[in-house]
Amino acid sequence: MRAYKAKMVSPIRLPDRDEREANLERAGYNVFNLDSEAVFVDLLTDSGTGTMSENQWAAMLTGDEAYAGSQSFDRLQQAVADVMGFERIIPAHQGRGAENVLYGALVGEGDYVPNNTHFDTTRAHIANSGGEPVDCPREGALDDDRPFAGDLDVEAVRDLVDEVGAENVPAVLLTITNNSLAGQPVSVENVRAAREVADELDAVFVIDACRFAENAYFVREREPEFADDSVAEVAREQLSYADAVVMSGKKDGLVNVGGFVGIRDDPELDDLYATARERGILYEGFTTYGGMAGRDLEAMAVGLREAVEERYVADRVDQVRRLGDLLADRGVPVQRPTGGHAVYVDAAAFLPDVPADRFPGQALVCELYREGAVRGVELGSFAFPETDRPELVRLSLPRRTYGADHLEHVAETFERVADRRDAGEIAGLEIVDEPEMAELRHFSAELRPVREREATTAD
Ligand code: F0G
Repeated sequence: MRAYKAKMVSPIRLPDRDEREANLERAGYNVFNLDSEAVFVDLLTDSGTGTMSENQWAAMLTGDEAYAGSQSFDRLQQAVADVMGFERIIPAHQGRGAENVLYGALVGEGDYVPNNTHFDTTRAHIANSGGEPVDCPREGALDDDRPFAGDLDVEAVRDLVDEVGAENVPAVLLTITNNSLAGQPVSVENVRAAREVADELDAVFVIDACRFAENAYFVREREPEFADDSVAEVAREQLSYADAVVMSGKKDGLVNVGGFVGIRDDPELDDLYATARERGILYEGFTTYGGMAGRDLEAMAVGLREAVEERYVADRVDQVRRLGDLLADRGVPVQRPTGGHAVYVDAAAFLPDVPADRFPGQALVCELYREGAVRGVELGSFAFPETDRPELVRLSLPRRTYGADHLEHVAETFERVADRRDAGEIAGLEIVDEPEMAELRHFSAELRPVREREATTAD
């Protein structure tokens, strides 16, 4: 049963099939080009798309918009200290702003930076600072039902250090939950092991904490040591080992925009804090607002406290699990157990007749729109050219936004796509126009159904 009732509503409409066909064609078979009003259930991302609470909206009215010394900043700082255990923060406009502030201060030319798996913007900011991002997930992490498939392979980090030298590894990163690995959680045991490795190297240990509350929920559920703890207690415990956190408030900050860097109040980290603070002022804004209005700081201060409330996080993680179950019940191959924020579908298995060079993931994304105005995102060979990533489609649930009937609609949409597949009506897509930077192509490339090309060639 949902732990919320609606008090403010946003109308949505299911366009008819002809409209959906026309929208898809106009969008160049790229759902980033769709107008949001043409989308019925929007599962593109869980980032900044959630619903705020009445207490968050109320707090926004008290925003102190002073350039310096804002009381709203003090309230955010106190919330971060209480909920996450970090006393010093540098606010930023969103997660990648925080990444720029911290990684620009930590990483230099020729450095190597291990992480369980780098999210795209993390990878880009490490590279932009001259470093080499290195993914160290557990081998075969997604092959069976592991409770903590998101863990860092600490031995792989040690191997990397043997190869490149400890002096060239300034930081060890850990992303909880592991977004690029199907949103899978990381155990506290693994957090402790990562801390140990960082100590061996004399490196800074950073946690990307944007989904820290969801991770804490899984830890309580699956790691016996924490079975009797509150989510709030686990949330603090798992972060207590880190020297610094990078936070996108658009996820477990329960806000539509905002982020920060948190740095522990430890004299050994004073230099890092000073450099990061200067970078914050340069790129984000003065230290007491950094890219956010006072009202945004207020909303995040309240949101962080709500994120570790039992009823919120249980409702959240269970809803994602329910969507996974609905799809699995209909024979859709989904990653199990489901992660914290999204259901990941194996598009290659769902559309076995669409070959890799016809983008089965993107074909599925387009079919979900065509059949039900559902918007997901491809995270396979279309988004990541020249990698051997599996052909995944991610369906991310915005927080506190959709209800059971929306999930049913998504499941029924999959049934209709399966009917079209079985009738041999899904042949895949080909790219007709793509940007120069291949890594960014899923945002702006345009495609067309392969059938269309064959028809054109026949003309
Ligand atoms: N780190 C992780 C693990 C993320 O998932 C994201 C964003 C960021 C950093 C960057 O934060 O968007 O506030 O700048 N993930 C979004 C997503 C975009 O759809 O998964 P941001």
